[in-house]
Amino acid sequence: MVTVNRNYLKLPGSYLFSTIGKKVNAYQSENPDKKIIRLGIGDVTQPLAPAIIESLHEGVEEMAHAETFHGYAPDLGYEFLRSAISRNDYQARGCDISEDEIFVSDGAKSDSGNIQEIFGIDNKVAVCDPVYPVYVDTNVMAGRSGEYNPGRENFDGIIYMPCREENGFLPEFPSEVPDLIYLCFPNNPTGSAITKDELQKWVDYANQNGSVIIYDAAYEAYISEENIPHSIYECDGAKTCAIELKSFSKNAGFTGVRLGYTVVPKALERDGVKLHSLWARRHGTKFNGAPYIVQKAGAAVYSEAGKAQLKEQVAYYMRNAKVIYEGLSEAGFSVSGGVNAPYIWLKTPDRMTSWEFFDYLLEKVNVVGTPGSGFGAHGEGYFRLTAFGTYENTVEAIERMKKM
Ligand code: MLT
Repeated sequence: MVTVNRNYLKLPGSYLFSTIGKKVNAYQSENPDKKIIRLGIGDVTQPLAPAIIESLHEGVEEMAHAETFHGYAPDLGYEFLRSAISRNDYQARGCDISEDEIFVSDGAKSDSGNIQEIFGIDNKVAVCDPVYPVYVDTNVMAGRSGEYNPGRENFDGIIYMPCREENGFLPEFPSEVPDLIYLCFPNNPTGSAITKDELQKWVDYANQNGSVIIYDAAYEAYISEENIPHSIYECDGAKTCAIELKSFSKNAGFTGVRLGYTVVPKALERDGVKLHSLWARRHGTKFNGAPYIVQKAGAAVYSEAGKAQLKEQVAYYMRNAKVIYEGLSEAGFSVSGGVNAPYIWLKTPDRMTSWEFFDYLLEKVNVVGTPGSGFGAHGEGYFRLTAFGTYENTVEAIERMKKM
């Protein structure tokens, strides 16, 4: 008799952004005349930069001729892309990460979900609360948690590290020492950032306790302040305790193109095994590489023209962040984030729950955001707005919210 992976049955409801999508679509079909502004999912709205489009076209043209055609990509990704990543994202920042420690993939969401596969099932997992749901859900699917506890609104067997306003939405060391620690900075969903000194404490903690940090740096391009690290490898000793996930979605608009990479340093060993060799084995067996044309487009991110164009694109979204932050502050909302990240985290007014505020905002002013409780129990009473909309829609959404 066929049995199923019953761990999936522990997951309540559907994926957060699928639930939101369904609710918004239902509202729109009942109210076809309403102009809904979507500031929910962190999906980009600006077209790919000209340097990237040019590179994509070149790649497509190459695929049209036998002499320049490309079949399967190399396991770790094309050397031209990995060397550009190593030089620009690491060596230029004084981080000694070599190109053979970089694994190119089809995006950070897949990698952040898949990375847990190389770890034993009995590892204790720690996450921030609120948290990007993929880290928790994929560990639940794998069987690394107990049941969902409806009273606490979280899973037994997972260590939750509350991120509260009073500590700048940063986690504290948990009372029980975890094996795997997921950290995301600049943070999704709160938009908070961690200083290099604070991150160094986590690196030291992980090295002292033999833990591994899975560091999601997807929003690194949005850092505007000086003392905020762009990579965990800026911290001493991170190569012996940390894996880093990076995305091309947020810095270069690849949400619909799909490209990312994961760094697994060769110095990172646990249980007598190099984690690099396990991830290489997994990558080689289960993945056939991001498409050539996409990797070629990814290399354009590091060209001089690409860098200049993407700086403008990031500035465009950060102007939206400012509009949201300042507009809502003026309107009396309590807001944070939006300085080193494209997310604004606000307190729901009048003690509304996150979902009550979601419905209120959708119905009253036709603006969509993301309920904080969708990211965890400590997100209750908060709400996330993304800066990835168009400028015009962002201004209009905030005008509508000011008049509520
Ligand atoms: C989000 O809105 O949290 C992100 O867009 C989700 C993602 O990047 O997968």
